[in-house]
Amino acid sequence: MIILAIDTSCDDTSVSVLKDGKILSNAMSSQIQFHKKWGGVVPSIAKRMHAEKIDTVLNKALKEAKVNIEDVDYFAVTYGPGLAIALEVGINKAKELSKQYHKPLVPINHMEGHIYSNFALNKNGKGYITDIEFPYMALLVSGNHSEIIIMKDHGIYEKLGETQDDAVGEAFDKVARMIGLGYPGGAIMSKMAENGDPSRFKFPIPMQHSKDLNFSYSGLKTAVSRVVNELGELSKQDIYDISASFQYAAITELCIKVEKAMSENKVNGLILGGGVSANVYLRKRLREICKGYNIPLFLPLNKKLCTDNGAMIATCAYWKIMSGQFEEIDIDALDRKPRLSL
Ligand code: KG4
Ligand code: ZN
Repeated sequence: MIILAIDTSCDDTSVSVLKDGKILSNAMSSQIQFHKKWGGVVPSIAKRMHAEKIDTVLNKALKEAKVNIEDVDYFAVTYGPGLAIALEVGINKAKELSKQYHKPLVPINHMEGHIYSNFALNKNGKGYITDIEFPYMALLVSGNHSEIIIMKDHGIYEKLGETQDDAVGEAFDKVARMIGLGYPGGAIMSKMAENGDPSRFKFPIPMQHSKDLNFSYSGLKTAVSRVVNELGELSKQDIYDISASFQYAAITELCIKVEKAMSENKVNGLILGGGVSANVYLRKRLREICKGYNIPLFLPLNKKLCTDNGAMIATCAYWKIMSGQFEEIDIDALDRKPRLSL
């Protein structure tokens, strides 16, 4: 079974080809350099760049996979959540291909894709989750989402908690901008944090005493902004220490909630998904928690599978088909759902 999947939900134009659940190609074109100077993703630029690049990325994915488009059995596409006019580019391309080649179209939720990035297999069939034993807990942390979810079976989810304001990746990006690290700053800031003292600024750990499993980042962001204003011109060491202290508070909040969720729900593993899953300190802390519960921590196989990519969408489509959840849709009726949730 060959699946070709497209994701244009944000600022990466991604196309992947999957054969029997194994990734043959995961091509993408990043737009970051075009959004950088605006300090965030500009929807109109995203739409234009997706439209410009989609055919090139599609051809690259097919070429790398050594697959002819006529041999594709299913097309899959992200229909939400994401930027409306960006999603539209991928959806229109997928509709066009499905009709032209008379193959079904599988609509995929981007966040479900981030969960399935953990089920991805490389072309030799290597992956983390091979013997699937539900239920799992999933922590989804990206530039737009912070969520704790129980995955009871393929396609069956219960949301335990989510952010009340900013997503964790967004908080990383905003703080990074405050201290002059550019956009998107999450990855650079976590590098800076390696040289910093996490105990120099005792930033508040948000929501640590709340009884629910929700997150919040606005108070922490305000606390960092106060310190930045007080310090005035920042030295290299200030930047290292703010990075480390912020990272400590932001990640500790995630870990407190994951630990609480685990004490209330028995699961067979923790799945980590979304761009912030690349954070080394987060991985270390979660590994310790999982060790305490004697369960594995699952991660996307490589860095490309952490951030937005087509292979996670293709893998999600694969399992929808394999588990009998996929029913053919009216292709013309498929519409973007920018606020789609799990
Ligand atoms: O999943 P993703 O690629 O896009 C969204 O769907 O949002 O996530 C991107 C987010 C950005 O906010 C970026 O700063 C953050 O992931 N990020 C990190 C790290 N690498 C990427 N945040 C913290 N530490 C990192 N190492
Ligand atoms: Zn994403």
